[in-house]
Amino acid sequence: MLDVQQQANTDTRNRWDSWSSLRKMHTEIWDKLSVSHKPLSGRALLLGAGNGNDVDIQKLESLFDEIVIVDIDPDALNCFMEKVKQPDKFKSMQLDLTGFANQVPDLKNMSEPEIIGLINTLKPNSELASLTGKFDFIMGCNYTTQLIGPKFMMHNQQSGSTYVVAVNQFTVKVLENIFYHLRNLLKDDGLLLHSTDTFEMHTNSATGYSSPATKPIMEATKGDLSKLSEIVPVFGSLAAQSLTISGSVMTTVMMIGLEFKRLFIIPWHFQRTATIERIYINFLTAFTKK
Ligand SMILES: C[S@@+](CC[C@H](N)C(=O)[O-])C[C@H]1O[C@@H](n2cnc3c(N)ncnc32)[C@H](O)[C@@H]1O
Repeated sequence: MLDVQQQANTDTRNRWDSWSSLRKMHTEIWDKLSVSHKPLSGRALLLGAGNGNDVDIQKLESLFDEIVIVDIDPDALNCFMEKVKQPDKFKSMQLDLTGFANQVPDLKNMSEPEIIGLINTLKPNSELASLTGKFDFIMGCNYTTQLIGPKFMMHNQQSGSTYVVAVNQFTVKVLENIFYHLRNLLKDDGLLLHSTDTFEMHTNSATGYSSPATKPIMEATKGDLSKLSEIVPVFGSLAAQSLTISGSVMTTVMMIGLEFKRLFIIPWHFQRTATIERIYINFLTAFTKK
């Protein structure tokens, strides 16, 4: 699965400037949490840190004494480290959050029933187990939708089909395993900030394409993306219609032992060309330990 992630990270490597608004929004959220929870400090862990485009690295360095960045893609981690000013504070670790990435073959010539058969043999076993010590702050940097979907949803499968249901259920199992480890890695008074792209608003004026979530999000917010909290009352209905991105929805098992603190919903302006506009709606949920 590393090949798929490396391609995606190569594609986004030069997005430093265009992701500045996302970084700014993340920093504002850190500042709010520092006031409502406790000042962010100590030891931080970033999951799916990638190229380091979505966090303000200098702000991280100023807040924390030690920052562990993990990702499956070593080239992306090197790109992250090139932006760092205080390398002594960082530990960069190539690590597979699923634990089975190297057991997944090329799926190109496999049928859907064969892939479902393969899924049933894969055991989520996150390499987060290899981390030592506990963390004051853990942030999931928009990795959950990238773990399974890009490799397994390669054809235009019908939502609700047996195949899509099997992949989605498997993704949930993988995430539940990751959250089991996150609970163990979080200090008793630590903070977990789980960020995930949740809806895709994607339009193409040349072809007339509009992704399925676009219209419902426009309706809920009356076209005003500063009013994204208006999504909350209709979230259950949108999720039931499979309008959420696979891997974005949290289950009660993931939240075992965690106490919900705050939810932030922000727009991630991902792509804008003369004809294409792609905005992800990101949910950032802050938890403490119960
Ligand atoms: C959408 S990117 C997040 C953006 C990234 N934080 C940045 O600023 O460049 C998702 C990240 O998750 C990582 N990832 C995907 N599958 C993974 C896995 N099994 N284990 C660890 N990281 C993984 C990818 O390599 C990628 O860097």
